Amino acid sequence: MKGHDARIEGLLGAMTLEEKIGQLNMLTADLAVTGPGMPADYMAELKAGRLGSMLNLYGIDLMRQVQRVAVEETRLGIPLFFGFDVIHGHRTIFPIPLAEAAAFDPELWEKTARIAAVEAAADGLTLTFAPMLDVARDPRWGRIAESAGEDPWLTARVAEAKVRGFQGKDLAAQDAVAATAKHLAAYGAVLAGREYAQVDVSERALHEIYLPPFRAAVAAGTAAIMPAFNDIAGVPLTAHAGVLRDLVRARWGFDGVMISDYNAIAELIPHGVAADLVEAAALALKAGVDIDMMATAYKRGLPAALQRGLVTLAEIDACVRRVLALKARLGLFDDPYRRRAPVMTAERIASHRHAAREAARRSIVLMTNRGGALPVASAPARVAVLGPLADIAEEMLGPWSGAGRGEEMVSYLAGLRQAWPRSRIDHARGVEIESDDTSGIPAAFDLARQADLVILCVGEARWMSGEGGSRARPGLPGRQAALADAVLGAGKPVIVLLTSGRPLLVPWLFERAEAVLAVWYLGSEAGHAVADVITGCFNPSARLPVTWPVEVGQIPIFYARLPTGRPIDPSFRYSSKYLDMANEPLFAFGHGLSYTRFDYANLSTSAPELRAGESIAVEVDVTNAGAVAGTETILLFVRDPVASISRPVLELRGMAKATLAPGERRSVRLTLAAEALAFPGPDLQPRLEPGEIEIFVGPAARADALLKTKARVVASTAKR
Ligand code: BGC
Repeated sequence: MKGHDARIEGLLGAMTLEEKIGQLNMLTADLAVTGPGMPADYMAELKAGRLGSMLNLYGIDLMRQVQRVAVEETRLGIPLFFGFDVIHGHRTIFPIPLAEAAAFDPELWEKTARIAAVEAAADGLTLTFAPMLDVARDPRWGRIAESAGEDPWLTARVAEAKVRGFQGKDLAAQDAVAATAKHLAAYGAVLAGREYAQVDVSERALHEIYLPPFRAAVAAGTAAIMPAFNDIAGVPLTAHAGVLRDLVRARWGFDGVMISDYNAIAELIPHGVAADLVEAAALALKAGVDIDMMATAYKRGLPAALQRGLVTLAEIDACVRRVLALKARLGLFDDPYRRRAPVMTAERIASHRHAAREAARRSIVLMTNRGGALPVASAPARVAVLGPLADIAEEMLGPWSGAGRGEEMVSYLAGLRQAWPRSRIDHARGVEIESDDTSGIPAAFDLARQADLVILCVGEARWMSGEGGSRARPGLPGRQAALADAVLGAGKPVIVLLTSGRPLLVPWLFERAEAVLAVWYLGSEAGHAVADVITGCFNPSARLPVTWPVEVGQIPIFYARLPTGRPIDPSFRYSSKYLDMANEPLFAFGHGLSYTRFDYANLSTSAPELRAGESIAVEVDVTNAGAVAGTETILLFVRDPVASISRPVLELRGMAKATLAPGERRSVRLTLAAEALAFPGPDLQPRLEPGEIEIFVGPAARADALLKTKARVVASTAKR
């Protein structure tokens, strides 16, 4: 970067204030139905040096054209960079992040990010607004779909894998895109799950739950970070110097760019912390936000802020330097057109589709399977594929669909028809996803009655989750419950494909159907993946990355709760419980069935003691006790039973996979580092307390599913 430093300083020296602020200004392309376009007035901004980056512009020809203007028609010829929400695939669409988290598989997470980067870069993109790292414990919040669920440790592993996948080894490579860890921080804790609402979390929760995934992303080298829309205890993150500047930049050493969320700098005014754009711009800049996405608050506010003495030129220069450094890291000064379409050969496209099918199969959670209804090994003579989500290919895209095209997705019906070419497969929607019209139910019921097997496809529309997708009643929308009720009464085995961006609270459906598959939004190969699981070509191995409640009243619900002084005692009124329902969720974190059964035995540790800086091995024998081969996801939890502050009843600290033939037994080894047992002390620095710790291994965060052993921590403080 040495040569680049000189170039950057040279540019800074040559830039006017307007050009400097221009580098901090990010504007969006028009997103027309026909694809993105460059608004004419933005072209004028670009030529005048008042635009440094764009979002939502993709497509290699258009981008070359716009980049050419930046390079050839602006005074200093500084190239633009182009960002886009490549959240779960670009053209090839992978399962939504919540679904992919269910695979508990860092290699998979990295691979799908790599493919997404290759495709995004081929479309001229240089940065993605991903990974989304908000720990999400509230199914009412639509953005839980974009998250890796409720667990900070798991989300941190997603962070590392995604940053590696998007950025590759060299950010300047033709197929690398910069990652943006978002939304820093605690956005998942919005009050009552309502989008853009206030957040009030303790310092401890912030440091223990919400920040670790961002810390992991920074350690993995994320090029960018996006502060969240929300406040924490009254301080909007866009203006949160304590988190952005003092913690993330100063203590963690993050030297990449901070990109505001969409219009977030201007929104400091309605947040009630800035009187006007001048104050808003000054607050964000001082907190460490380099790039103003779509608020033009820097453009309109910074010159006056400088005059009023609210910011200094040195502070503006620091932001510009970081933006130019990112452009240098991306290789844009060496070749502004470096990201160009590699020949997307048929072979390459096929390999991406293959990966999408694999990712989708590994993300499907087998929630219930009464009497071994699944798999359906031999093709039934007559199948009724019913429900509003059975054959809408576009719905398979899920929220945030990148450059994915609805017509390229495989619907469930299409996948099943391919899997069972000789079966008679009838289809009726019965009802729409969201409508009061029940006139189609009788016809669906008739088809169910005549079928040997019913596959009922119900759930949410893709627009119902993702940003702005909060739902106070996260159940089946419209009259789908009436359809399900009728079909379940037809006396035929019913397999439910439950499509959603969140846990859907439909306990009755789980109760009544023979089997339920949580299929989330699986992307391009949804139909094939679902058929693979239904037919038994693929034995499901995914696990819930989020606790699945029975009722809205239990929310927020998550496994890593703190113990209470009055644990539940059904016979004692004054214990921690509800009067009108159980405390327990419907399905625990880690729940997910297989077509085989795995037994766990002989949990042991390689040493009885653990010292700071050291690790021990935790070993367990896992046996495939069923009749078919399968892959088991093995989870390791810890608990510190007596500490200076109350510690969660379980905390995830390890995961492993074992693929076993029927009857096969394997000793599975997981590593537990002493540092994984540290927690923020009173000064919020990691602290490792000596004493006994409990170690649990098993498939899910359920006491009756876990084996337990112990070890001793021998240390006082942990090294960072
Ligand atoms: C979202 C971000 C996204 C940005 C750009 C915002 O509304 O909160 O997650 O990256 O838009 O599309």
